[in-house]
Amino acid sequence: MEVLNKGFKVGECEGQKTIDGEQMPQVLHPAQAEQRDLGSLVAALKANKEWFEEMLLKNSAVLLRGFDVRDAEGFNEVVEAFGWDDIRYVGPAPRTHIHKRVWTANEGPLSEFIYYHHEMVLIKEFPTKVILFCEVPPPEGGQTPFVPSFRVTERMLEEYPKNVEEIEQKGLRYSFTALSKNDTSSMRGRGWEDAFGTSDRIEAEKRAKALGMDMEWLPNGGVKTILGPRPLTRVFPGRKGRRMWFNTVVGMHGKEISSATMADGSEIPAEVVKRCEEIIEEESIQFKWEKGDILFLDNLALLHGRRPSLPPRKVLVATCK
Ligand SMILES: [Fe+2]
Repeated sequence: MEVLNKGFKVGECEGQKTIDGEQMPQVLHPAQAEQRDLGSLVAALKANKEWFEEMLLKNSAVLLRGFDVRDAEGFNEVVEAFGWDDIRYVGPAPRTHIHKRVWTANEGPLSEFIYYHHEMVLIKEFPTKVILFCEVPPPEGGQTPFVPSFRVTERMLEEYPKNVEEIEQKGLRYSFTALSKNDTSSMRGRGWEDAFGTSDRIEAEKRAKALGMDMEWLPNGGVKTILGPRPLTRVFPGRKGRRMWFNTVVGMHGKEISSATMADGSEIPAEVVKRCEEIIEEESIQFKWEKGDILFLDNLALLHGRRPSLPPRKVLVATCK
């Protein structure tokens, strides 16, 4: 194994892929057994911050494995070693604050597949980094697969160049319907009061506007949230000019409570969305969580999701600007 003379040596993991000549994820182990303790890890990260940041840009995902990180406190120390600014989570996932910058990743039922997404893709300010820590690895399932986003764009352009260009040109419009918490006829999702942190409609509208959303109130007390026009793909600085599939079309298209159309209202053909879903799955990178793993994801370059899992599973998260 290559020793990097920085307290780390490069390893391998199950499911790893080589994308454009780079390992994804890049796996880092302690160079020597006596460097596996938390203090050594934090010191090595602090001393090699720029090196690590460049690697995260180059490889899009970096997995620290084999270090003695045991809990939220330890994970928080690793996160804080870099001095990256925190960004507050806004979105549909139920999360619980654990310690300082550390939250539960998602408390939705473990039996559900959380579909691939760029974190907070619909919000104006989204994190550039998502950092995950595995405190309790699931006995079966529960992987956090991730997908090089530019590969999805490339393959969609190969198969549906006209559709991609049309959607890109017109832009996307999304809608999402949230019920009121006072509506007891359905169990699905959080009420808008929870989502926007207020029971006051005017205040909710104000907060939605700040997030770039319009609202339409429904007769049953719920609300339809509309966003758009939004881009289909985006190119971010420092990422080789790659065109990222920075949207949530597959996740929201044609669902009971959500939709994704072109911004002029025209439909995106269902078969295009279906094929895109297959491509995302084909391009995904699957790895198995081990206890103490810390996974750094470049949120501008990767989609990520969560496979259904058997309990117990405890994965914590921190997000950075
Ligand atoms: Fe996520």
